[in-house]
Amino acid sequence: MTITDTHSTTPARQATAKTVLMCRPDFFTVSYRINPWMNPEDPTDTNLAVKQWQTLYDTYIELGFDVHLIDPIDGLPDMVYAANGGFVIDGKAYGALFTYDERKAEGPAYMEWFGAHGFEVADPKNINEGEGDFLLVGDNILAGMGFRTSVESHTELAEISGRNVVSLNLINPSFYHVDTAIAKLDETNIAYLGSAFDEPSLEKLRALYPDAILATEEDAAVLGLNSYSDGYNVVIAARAKDFERQLKERGYNPIGVDLSELLLGGGGVKCCTLELRR
Ligand code: ARG
Repeated sequence: MTITDTHSTTPARQATAKTVLMCRPDFFTVSYRINPWMNPEDPTDTNLAVKQWQTLYDTYIELGFDVHLIDPIDGLPDMVYAANGGFVIDGKAYGALFTYDERKAEGPAYMEWFGAHGFEVADPKNINEGEGDFLLVGDNILAGMGFRTSVESHTELAEISGRNVVSLNLINPSFYHVDTAIAKLDETNIAYLGSAFDEPSLEKLRALYPDAILATEEDAAVLGLNSYSDGYNVVIAARAKDFERQLKERGYNPIGVDLSELLLGGGGVKCCTLELRR
């Protein structure tokens, strides 16, 4: 499916239907705290989480995406954040090795799914949280570190993928995965939150993406950057209004969804989405 934006004053953007993996939040709750968004004493509504997640799923189907599902596992409430399940490129799946004990069992569960669905699985030697900290933009992998993913895994992934890995140091505990601080819009464009990175990392981002969209603190605070784009349609948090405006200005088609319940676990649109690349 190809949709081309025809607006004359903005660059033409092109949609490419994606293939993704998702996990229904049947067992979602917040029972531990491994990021500042999580408050186990606050109640969560699993039915509402499923309903909101379903809206995201339906949006992807309407966009013509090929959406695969992995079975959720009772006792792994964060499994809905499929982005952390690994990093998939050229039919190879680099497995996740989680930082916190609470999520460690998700690594093998996702690797089993990749293996059963025709991907060549690379068992990770170093701590990494998959696409949560690895964003493929063109031939570069923008890789987060500082909270979850180890710098050693950056080297490991560079070897496995043959791609250039750009290491970026995250400094704000609320933006602990790179996909909470950078939105990939297409193979040459990104949006990011400057205050989430240290100065050397910002220098790298400015050099690579001089025209990047700079997100506001307000939009980042609803995980607005945690979005997923097909090159034209950008699925974002409905509350990220300035980001929405900037996307329209640049010829993208922002589509807002409300994942407020999943925000209680510290995740948004992108966290629920793992791209599968053959
Ligand atoms: N509760 C999860 C954690 O702290 C949220 C993961 C969000 N995922 C993401 N790709 N940013 O690990």
